[in-house]
Amino acid sequence: MKLGRLNHIGVATPSIADSIVFYRDVMGATQICEPFDLPDQGVKVCFVDTPGAGGALDGTQIELIEPLPGNTSIAGFLEKNPAGGQHHMCYEVPDIHAAKAEFESMGKRVLGEPRIGAHGTLIFFVHPRDMGGVLTEIMETPKEAH
Ligand code: CO
Repeated sequence: MKLGRLNHIGVATPSIADSIVFYRDVMGATQICEPFDLPDQGVKVCFVDTPGAGGALDGTQIELIEPLPGNTSIAGFLEKNPAGGQHHMCYEVPDIHAAKAEFESMGKRVLGEPRIGAHGTLIFFVHPRDMGGVLTEIMETPKEAH
């Protein structure tokens, strides 16, 4: 496994609109993308940028995640954590298929096949029980990234 940059931290929320106000007014975020639906995954998401080193535009993002009607996984998370909370961490890798093979060779449970994620590149998740309790998203680095 070739560890890449921490692309984003996923935060489940019952209301992206309320979370945007929090990140803007409490945390001072100035770069907040327009929320959009990922119908395949049953969620609405919104990315909040944090600055990179020296104010560069390559900082780690916060991915706000709100369930769409019919969603079960995020809705279930919010049942246990009604105010929302940290849901997953996402690391970049240069080659998604190589990363999947490596995790599987180490006995880690990859959840499903690689699929297009919120950044338009392939992603997969690894079971938190195999990852020290952290639901882990692995994402192929966008080609024209930053
Ligand atoms: Co994510």
